[in-house]
Amino acid sequence: MKKKVWGGRFKQRLDPLADKFNSSIHFDKRLYPYDIKGSIAHCRMLAKKGIIREDEAKKIIDALNEIKDELDKGKISFGGYEDIHSLVEDRLIEKIGDIGRKLHTARSRNDQVSLDTRMFLKDAIEDVLKKIKILQLALIEKAEENIDIVIPGYTHLQRAQPVLLSHHLMAYYEMLKRDKERFRECRKRTDIMPLGSAALSGTSFDLDRDMVREELGFKEISRNSMDAVSDRDFIIDFIYASSMLMMHLSRLSEELIIWSTQEFGFIDIPDSFATGSSIMPQKKNPDVLELIRGKTGRVYGSLISVLTMMKGLPLTYNKDMQEDKEPLFDTYDTIKDCLEIMERLIRNISFRRERIKDALRGGYITATDLAEYLVKKGVPFRTSHEIVGRIVLYAIEKGKELMELSLDELKGFSDLIEEDVYEWLDPIKSVEKKEIYGGTGPKHVRRMIEEAKKEILEEDE
Ligand code: ARG
Repeated sequence: MKKKVWGGRFKQRLDPLADKFNSSIHFDKRLYPYDIKGSIAHCRMLAKKGIIREDEAKKIIDALNEIKDELDKGKISFGGYEDIHSLVEDRLIEKIGDIGRKLHTARSRNDQVSLDTRMFLKDAIEDVLKKIKILQLALIEKAEENIDIVIPGYTHLQRAQPVLLSHHLMAYYEMLKRDKERFRECRKRTDIMPLGSAALSGTSFDLDRDMVREELGFKEISRNSMDAVSDRDFIIDFIYASSMLMMHLSRLSEELIIWSTQEFGFIDIPDSFATGSSIMPQKKNPDVLELIRGKTGRVYGSLISVLTMMKGLPLTYNKDMQEDKEPLFDTYDTIKDCLEIMERLIRNISFRRERIKDALRGGYITATDLAEYLVKKGVPFRTSHEIVGRIVLYAIEKGKELMELSLDELKGFSDLIEEDVYEWLDPIKSVEKKEIYGGTGPKHVRRMIEEAKKEILEEDE
């Protein structure tokens, strides 16, 4: 056990079990680059404001850079330290003695940990935004490549109406676009520099908070020290945005899993993304997709953890809040893996055109088109719905597709039906009629793909 940064007031050493329980070094060690960068900025500012001397600041900064280097090279063992903040300070004092003891002037671990976490999260959000974008590009590429494929669209997982496969894929593009908006929103609230709040009330030292903000690349500085040291909303925002993202990735996974079954057979998952069974030699399982679906649960779990951890806390800092970091780190690690793997998988998926074509049969998926045809001939929609219902029943009894009914058979249900009806019964032509903005018409979908490409290139993260 290392000497504590708070040791002065204590007569007894911390119980070893309590010490282990109290410590967060095993997970907050990954904050070290931010902790050191933040300390350097703080130190420069202390010197500029004459709170410490320039030569002292130089010594501190050189030593901090050395510590960073040692940590990068894995030369420092984390054992025995309470947290990353005490480790860095402890090493600093070991290196330069009493001068090192000046760094923590006008600072508390309470504002420090908020700073480090915010810096970490800003980078994480940047990375997540990039990864979502790459996944969106993969979807666009697949949508373009397969623009001519018509699939049955489903409601209630029952064949409903024909749609372009590209339209289906681009639906996920839209979801991801909203996900990015949520992460950008969260970034706004993360981009606030808390240093200068100290333990909870600010400090009597005349700090230049704006200098620290500028050096660390933050947009704003916090306006209320009590809020700054006890706010974890930005973490919850991130995990919420991640939960939504995972919900979307999970739905996509589920669809791909269904599409890869022998029953559907719409896609082939490349061997490089599937696994076998230890007993059934014929099996090829979509484990990777199942894992994305499964990992959604742990991200939701993290959201509930942090929300619950925060809900009863009086202002300001409480040690409960140390429990924010594992869910945060786990969420980031999980979503970044899921995004990467989903992107690669999408790029490597192939669509089985013949099987998809077969699936356009048997579901009477142009029945609505037929109803719309009759409406255009002057039949009120509810009446035409009924007529078509009877036609479908008839076709089922005869074991025929709507397309396969003769004009005479169709006329038996309404004499308004003419030869031109067949244009409305063909799934491919049905899609072509849906050129409404937002619909599955090929021209519109192409336009949307172009728009997506443009907007994604114009984005600057
Ligand atoms: N490890 C602590 C955390 O993650 C750092 C802040 C400690 N502050 C304190 N007053 N004990 O929350």
